[in-house]
Amino acid sequence: MRVTITQIKEMKQKGEKIVMLTAYDYSTAKIVDEVGVPLILVGDSLGMVVLGYESTIPVTMEEMLHHTKAVVRGTKRSLIVGDMPFMTYHLSVEQALQNAARFIQEAGAQAIKLEGGVTVAEKVRRMVQCGMPVMGHIGLTPQSIHQFGGYKVQGKSPEGAKRLLDDAIALDEAGAFAIVLETVPTPLATLITEKVSVPTIGIGAGIGCDGQVQVINDILGSFADFVPKHAKQYAKLTDIIRKAVTDYHNEVKDGAFPTEKQSFSMDESVLAELKSDTEGGLYGESKRTQTDT
Ligand code: KIV
Repeated sequence: MRVTITQIKEMKQKGEKIVMLTAYDYSTAKIVDEVGVPLILVGDSLGMVVLGYESTIPVTMEEMLHHTKAVVRGTKRSLIVGDMPFMTYHLSVEQALQNAARFIQEAGAQAIKLEGGVTVAEKVRRMVQCGMPVMGHIGLTPQSIHQFGGYKVQGKSPEGAKRLLDDAIALDEAGAFAIVLETVPTPLATLITEKVSVPTIGIGAGIGCDGQVQVINDILGSFADFVPKHAKQYAKLTDIIRKAVTDYHNEVKDGAFPTEKQSFSMDESVLAELKSDTEGGLYGESKRTQTDT
């Protein structure tokens, strides 16, 4: 039985911290699920940490659905949230509903996430009315990176802080079951957390949020291009992978791999027969010679 949005909302009431991590593939999602992480986000960060795009903007619906399906196949218990890509929910309520439904119906996710507050609240309301749980995402919303002019902390000015609080309240009122707060000053994130009825999940938003989310490649140290300030590396997989690949490369070159252990045997009589059949040349050549004469 998978974790439900009711259980996630209850965790806020009980003061129980909520853990969320991204995952993009079957094998990784399986480990995250087995550890007991209740929320897995198939984030559009996929575009940067897996697909090598410069931002999340080029990510498509097809790419997101493909990876969401893999994560769903690898998990039994975690609630899977599919991240709606840039411009797949902006054009109209109909467009937003249709694309959200693809995550739930085609990919098997239990919820979807979209970026924005007041401006997307109506779409959130309609999705929830249609039975699709929605996670909001405000603060430094990476799909608006060109609008922000860089990856900057949001909500530092009086107007910016007020706007974020209004966005959070609009999402809460529209029926979102949780709200991601990204790169927001800790005191503001704490205030927003107190003012909304649903859990806040922070990333670079400090300890006052109801939960935390991280991009899995950041905590594993498997994305070498840059390490965001909000991330803590619990491992350095790039070093481990580099060493394993180097060892494999060297062992193939010097004949140390494969050994007997990685090889397969066969009945010696089969080999002896084959050898006698091919005596005097290649198998094909000796056969041709026989039929020619
Ligand atoms: O795409 C993503 O991984 C996200 C998280 C950073 C919240 O949106």
